Amino acid sequence: MTRRLTGFQPTGNLHLGNLIGAMRPLVAAQDRPSIAMIADLHALTMEHDPETVRANTLTVATVLLAAGVDPQRTAIIANSQVPEHTELHYLLECVTGYGEAARMIQFKEKSGAGGTVRLSLLTYPVLMAADILVHDVDQVPVGEDQSQHLELARTIATRFNARYGATFVVPEGIRPESAARIMDLADPARKMSKSAPSPAGRIGLLDPPETIRKVISRAVTDTAGVVRHDREGQPGVTNLLEILRACSGREPGELTSYGALKREVTDAVEAVLAPIRARYAELSEDPSHVREVLAKGKASVQPRATETVRRTRAAIGL
Ligand code: ADP
Ligand code: NA
Repeated sequence: MTRRLTGFQPTGNLHLGNLIGAMRPLVAAQDRPSIAMIADLHALTMEHDPETVRANTLTVATVLLAAGVDPQRTAIIANSQVPEHTELHYLLECVTGYGEAARMIQFKEKSGAGGTVRLSLLTYPVLMAADILVHDVDQVPVGEDQSQHLELARTIATRFNARYGATFVVPEGIRPESAARIMDLADPARKMSKSAPSPAGRIGLLDPPETIRKVISRAVTDTAGVVRHDREGQPGVTNLLEILRACSGREPGELTSYGALKREVTDAVEAVLAPIRARYAELSEDPSHVREVLAKGKASVQPRATETVRRTRAAIGL
């Protein structure tokens, strides 16, 4: 059966896009072996506050549970807690070119921002390759911004196999079947993102209902005055319709005004988020339970990760 790994950055800014684009598909696919990985090691590639990274890792694990990820079926792990990720990272660096890493668009963007560039920012895609390859997964749901990194992981795996003998499963990047791409409500030309300059267009998974109502009521629309699907001409309205469909699971009836559309969207989003928020509050009362989930996740993936690294070391000459 196919094995999947879905990655999440440790952030307190999880939003509706993450839920619809990543968490729900993960929950829907729990009949197959899956790993939900929180990439806390990746958070170290940029200036960061240690306490915030620690807290965010726990927050993301808690949100995953609150959103319905079943830890009995899906291993929830942090990549820092499985040392084989870092060991394989080094071994894979030995088959990756400097030029290949330096060419990555995300590296160019982030390193061009000024300030000290950490070496780990350059080698981050190699760590991502290790994150994937160490678990022998064959499917990795990725958004557009990660597809170049996934391609590099495939290149590294294929090259290693050709040079040192069959060692890695070559992973395939997939787009989750049902997942809509949720756009920013204040700027529907860009996707909803944790790193948007302003939270004005973001629906946070843990935001209070009042905030969500405000964000939706201020969503950018247009002057056409007609509620219809038209991604080019009416991106704001189309995005609201897609959020409505994703949250309510049905096509909306006739909607005669943008006000009516926004009220329907608000109700549908609230119906989805209220139970997640409630479950999150419950789970937050016992963080040691969530830490235990992470420890069990680690234990469940450990044997395979150990075996992959053993195989890799032997193949490369150790
Ligand atoms: P962000 O884009 O906010 O930085 P991440 O890169 O951490 O979020 O993405 C985590 C997961 O959520 C990925 O699988 C990604 O494809 C998905 N995702 C992120 N933003 C959206 C969005 N606006 N719509 C749908 N899926 C999204
Ligand atoms: Na991203």
